[in-house]
Amino acid sequence: MKVLITGVAGFIGSNLCKKLLNAGIKCSGIDKLTDYYDIKQKRYNLKPLLGNSNFTFYEKDILKYDPDDLIKKNDFIIHLAAQSGVFKSWGKNFNIYVNNNLLTTQLLLETLIKYPKKKLIFASSSSIYGNTNKYPMREDNLLNPISPYGLTKLSCEKMIELYNYSYGINYLSLRFFTVYGPAQRPDMAFHKFFKSIVDHKPIYIYGDGNQVRDFTFVEDVTDFIKYLIISNTKWNYSLNVGGGHKITVNEVIDLIFSITGQFTILKHTEDQKGDMRVTHSDITLARQKFSYNPKYNIEQGLKEEWEWIQNYYSANV
Ligand SMILES: NC(=O)c1ccc[n+]([C@@H]2O[C@H](COP(=O)([O-])OP(=O)(O)OC[C@H]3O[C@@H](n4cnc5c(N)ncnc54)[C@H](O)[C@@H]3O)[C@@H](O)[C@H]2O)c1
Repeated sequence: MKVLITGVAGFIGSNLCKKLLNAGIKCSGIDKLTDYYDIKQKRYNLKPLLGNSNFTFYEKDILKYDPDDLIKKNDFIIHLAAQSGVFKSWGKNFNIYVNNNLLTTQLLLETLIKYPKKKLIFASSSSIYGNTNKYPMREDNLLNPISPYGLTKLSCEKMIELYNYSYGINYLSLRFFTVYGPAQRPDMAFHKFFKSIVDHKPIYIYGDGNQVRDFTFVEDVTDFIKYLIISNTKWNYSLNVGGGHKITVNEVIDLIFSITGQFTILKHTEDQKGDMRVTHSDITLARQKFSYNPKYNIEQGLKEEWEWIQNYYSANV
């Protein structure tokens, strides 16, 4: 069995690749190392993977590489490459979202037409729910994204359904709910909070900090993807992949102070456009049909992220 991971140098991709290689699964990965955040972190993520003889890395843009070459040798395509982040998706940067989210997905789908036995797992997002009508969010809720980023993810999901309908391409779209843990992106809240502690600087909180989030530990995500590959299970679903419990940003900060044993000043800034007030996943579908079983509670997960943050910032990368 061979697996292609797009966006392999990123947060989730590097964690996933490590897990699959440890399980003896051959992986190849593609990443163009975009400068959305410091590429030193991406190189740091790649370092332990590159020494593994079961891993092949292409430092390339998906849109500029031969897609046949990428796909023909692999049984599973895990498409994580994207321009992430809600806030920067407004304005002139939108073309980056169109290229890295919509066009990469469309190219992979077009190529998959020739290879009907291959299977696609797509990284979707809770942001496609936006201002939805019911909580916890179920897969059949109203999909009403409130950011251009969320719109691109919803468009990708719809495009995948279209190619499934017309060409029978096998897929699973996994709607991730705020993933955290070792190697988390530096633009994401927990990483920023921990970094403020390391630097003895204030923590900036958008709005009142009472926004509710469903946080998902990265090991739960990668364990699930590994299970989906190994079990080669049912296909053609869109599934919530959340932690299944909710907590406010203010409560997370209290936990961070207690885990690190350090305090810093809190400063509140304006609410960000496109930021959802509540995310809370209903994971019944993934649980019942795919045995999804998130194991980590937020305190365990935060401790692991804190350990990674200390190692990373003391390694002088
Ligand atoms: N982290 C989360 O909480 C979260 C939540 C919901 C959905 N997602 C989705 O999961 C996926 C992984 O997220 P992440 O947090 O690991 O992001 P990340 O930014 O760390 O990783 C994405 C990687 O894709 C690469 N990439 C982008 N465009 C590319 C292209 N055209 N060709 C080759 N490589 C390209 C980037 O260089 C980056 O390393 C993304 O699709 C993201 O939208 C993440």
